[in-house]
Formats: sequence, C-alpha cells, structure tokens
Amino acid sequence: MSGSVVRVLRSVCRQQIKRSLNTGKCNCFQLRQHYYPQEQPHHHHGGNRNSNQGFGRATKICFGIFAGGVATCAAIAYALDRSVVQASHNLAHPPNLPWEFDGVLSTLNHGAIRRGWTVYKMVCSTCHSLKYVAFKDFVDVCFSEQEARDIAAEYEVEDGPDESGEMFMRECKLQDKIPGPYANEEAARAANNGALPPDLSYITNARENGKNYVFHLLTAYTDPPAGIELRDGQGFNPYFENGALGMAEMLQDGLVDYDDGTPAYKSQMAKDVVEFLTWTANQDWDTRKIVFFKGIGICVIMFAGFCTMYRARKTHHKYTKLHFLSKNKNQKCP
Ligand code: HEC
Repeated sequence: MSGSVVRVLRSVCRQQIKRSLNTGKCNCFQLRQHYYPQEQPHHHHGGNRNSNQGFGRATKICFGIFAGGVATCAAIAYALDRSVVQASHNLAHPPNLPWEFDGVLSTLNHGAIRRGWTVYKMVCSTCHSLKYVAFKDFVDVCFSEQEARDIAAEYEVEDGPDESGEMFMRECKLQDKIPGPYANEEAARAANNGALPPDLSYITNARENGKNYVFHLLTAYTDPPAGIELRDGQGFNPYFENGALGMAEMLQDGLVDYDDGTPAYKSQMAKDVVEFLTWTANQDWDTRKIVFFKGIGICVIMFAGFCTMYRARKTHHKYTKLHFLSKNKNQKCP
C-alpha cells in the first residue's frame, strides 16, 4: 500500500515540476529523467557544489582537537582510577582479578556458588546477615528444592500471632528470607566491639570494584605498619579505609569441608564466597546475558529489514537526476 503512495507522490512531484516550468517566465526547458546507478555528486549539473559536501576544514580540525582532548582526559582519569594506590585516601586499590564469570559469554559457576554458600554458612553467618535472600532463591541455582527445604529447616523465624495472640518461633520455609545472626543493630555492635557487620546480600554491588575488594579484604591481612595501633578484635587490612578493620582475619586453609572435595585453601574459599555474593547481589546475572544476546539478535534482524526496505523504497529517488534541457537550441534562457 505504501508503495503505491510513493508512486502517486512521485508522479505528483513530476507533474508539479513540469507545470512550474511551463507556467513560469521560462518555458524553454523540458524535463528529462535519468537513472544513474552510481551517483557522482561532484558532477551534478544543476546542483550546488558546496552543499552536502561535509564539514569545512576548520570545523574538522576543531572537532579533531576536541575529540583528542576528551580521549586524553578519559585515558588519564581511567589510569588514575586503576592506579594501585590512591593518594587522596589511606587505602590500597584492589587489583583486578581474572574472574571467569566476567566474560561476555560466561556464566557464574554454580558449583562455586554452592561452595560459597558453605563458606558463608560456616564462617560469615556468625556475624553477617543475608536478609534479602530467600531460601527459595537457591532452588535450581545451587540446590535442589529438597536440599533448599532442608537448609531452611535448620533456621528458625518468629511468626504469629497464634490464636492466643502470642508470637511463636517456627522452622523456616522455602519462602522465608535467611534470618540474620543478631536481633538488631545494637546487638550486632555490642558483639563486635562497636563495629557493625554490614548485610552481605548486595555488598559486591555496594562497594567500588566490589568483587576484587571483598576478595582482597578477606585475604590481604598483614601486620600493621609502625604507628598504627589496633584495638581489640581489629585486623590490619590495606584495602580498608585507614587499614584498621573491625573484622579480624576469618579465613584459614582448611577451615571448611567442601562436599565436592575441592581443597579448601584460603584463596579458594575467598573466591567461592565472592562468587556466591556476586550471585546474591545479581541473581539475574546469567539471564541478563541471555537477554542481551536476544536483544542484539532482534536488533540485527530489524536493521537488516530496515536496510532492505530502504534500498527498495529509496534507491529510485537517490539515483534519479532531473536535467532541464533547452527545447529550442537557439533560444537562451532570460
Ligand atoms: C566475627 C564476626 C565476623 C565474621 C565471622 C565475618 N565478619 Fe565481616 N565484618 C565484621 C565486622 C564487625 C565488620 C565491620 C568492620 C568495620 O566496619 O570496621 C565486617 C565487615 C565486613 C565487610 C565490609 C567492609 C566494608 O567495606 O564495610 C565485608 C565485605 C565482610 N565483612 C565480609 C565478610 C565475609 C565474606 C565473611 C566470611 C568469610 C566475614 N565477613 C566474616 C565481622 C565479621
């Protein structure tokens, strides 16, 4: 239908041009139409030579200088951001580790998520909550439904009121969120020399360069340098602001037993718990990548369709030239 509209418009245009030529002062020209497979704009007879020939030289130079300046500034900012020590803070910048799941085509390792849960359960859950994760989230990610039910049954949660108006404790069910170790913030601070262990559900997203930061926070404890006094329960960690971290070193080789037989080295446990915490913070990690590729696929198909349509509809207009030639060779245009 739109094809016929284009045809009608085209013929209307042609007629109008003819009419204006005939009714104007000058009726000494006739309209000829040529189809040129390859447009040569430089040799267009009737056209304005300077129009549509791109930007001027000065504009191009200005644009080049501007783009160069922006690129240089961005490169310097990036290099400063990546530099290991930041002069403005008293902390080391965690170097980037080659996380397998960061690849465009790679997913999280679900075995590692399962091991990471073991580390969280055996070590971190003594102090840190995971209050935005429900037991049902584990199903088909790192546990079967029955396994997730069994894990939930190990926890208790307050429910109620019952018929007599009393609150009561019951075993957790699949839909419950994972209960934290402390009843409130004050209890958490009281048990940790005044420091508050943050909820870990979104920690890898909440901290800059989260995965590398948490990994190094767990593995890079050292003796404090001269002049830094640590209080009770504190450890020195160069990746934490000012170094004095209210969490002592937690991971030691062989601290947990993995059910898949992986040797539980300190770095292995840190890596697994970081992968687990990356999943808790981004439960749609794998889905996002699949949807991204589906989106790209749809865009490619639509773009190809658009190009085909463009060629079919516009080629005629693009390569058609209108020449106005004198009807009478002796007659000159006024
Ligand atoms: C004995 C209690 C305890 C255990 C066990 C523990 N932490 Fe901590 N954690 C703390 C406390 C307290 C803080 C707060 C430190 C501060 O603010 O100085 C903290 C802070 C943190 C932070 C945040 C630092 C920041 O940037 O605010 C992360 C991440 C963390 N812990 C991860 C873990 C992981 C992972 C585990 C398990 C392998 C773990 N912790 C085990 C007590 C603990």
